[in-house]
Amino acid sequence: MKITFITLFPEYFTFFKNHSIIKRAIENKKIKIELLNPRDFTKDKNRQVDDYIYGGGAGMLMLIEPIVKAIEKVKNENSFVILTSPRGRKFSQELAKKIAITKKELIIICGHYEGIDARIKHFIDLEISLGEFILTGGEIVAMAISDAIIRLIPDVINKDSLIEESFENNLIETDHYTKPQVFRNYSVPDVLLSGDHKKILAWRKESAIKNTKLFKKNNQKW
Ligand SMILES: C[S@@+](CC[C@H](N)C(=O)[O-])C[C@H]1O[C@@H](n2cnc3c(N)ncnc32)[C@H](O)[C@@H]1O
Repeated sequence: MKITFITLFPEYFTFFKNHSIIKRAIENKKIKIELLNPRDFTKDKNRQVDDYIYGGGAGMLMLIEPIVKAIEKVKNENSFVILTSPRGRKFSQELAKKIAITKKELIIICGHYEGIDARIKHFIDLEISLGEFILTGGEIVAMAISDAIIRLIPDVINKDSLIEESFENNLIETDHYTKPQVFRNYSVPDVLLSGDHKKILAWRKESAIKNTKLFKKNNQKW
């Protein structure tokens, strides 16, 4: 998969590209990442990328032309253009999976300031939101959604790690423990040290069900 991020702040992505699973996915040629800065698609000497809002209002809006030119530089028949936006479709594991399976090239647009000229809607395929809150820019959103998508691309991470992850099989993951066996009076459940695989499996199923109930409770509105 190729992912192009259109961003005024490409520096955000330096750490993202150069560490952990994303770095390995790039090295193993599972993904390719390109960064385009709308500023490089301006014509004026100030390389202006934002302006005042027609009709008045606080803040500045990103100009549409540099962004559309950046899209057009990389867009082809395989491209799927995503706009990060608080009013978009709420991101989920299900959507991550759908995109990982069906799309070959993503172009992800990161808004900033008060957002982007509304005519951008004519140049995108989907608006995606990370949730009902406002971030300063779309960069964190773009990294979050692409991270979730990349780890679902075949052979990016161990297949077995994905099977029991939260949101698979409508369940939240079971509790896991590692060393030490006792930490400040808190012990690892005995069953996990028993070596009895049948019992361990039953305990894990029960723990996953408990965690799923907890997830639902945590997400009830206040
Ligand atoms: C400060 S926000 C603009 C918010 C806009 N004025 C509004 O009220 O909807 C700047 C950019 O951050 C990104 N952004 C902020 N919060 C987001 C969220 N919850 N989901 C997706 N993108 C978000 C979008 O790209 C947005 O254009």
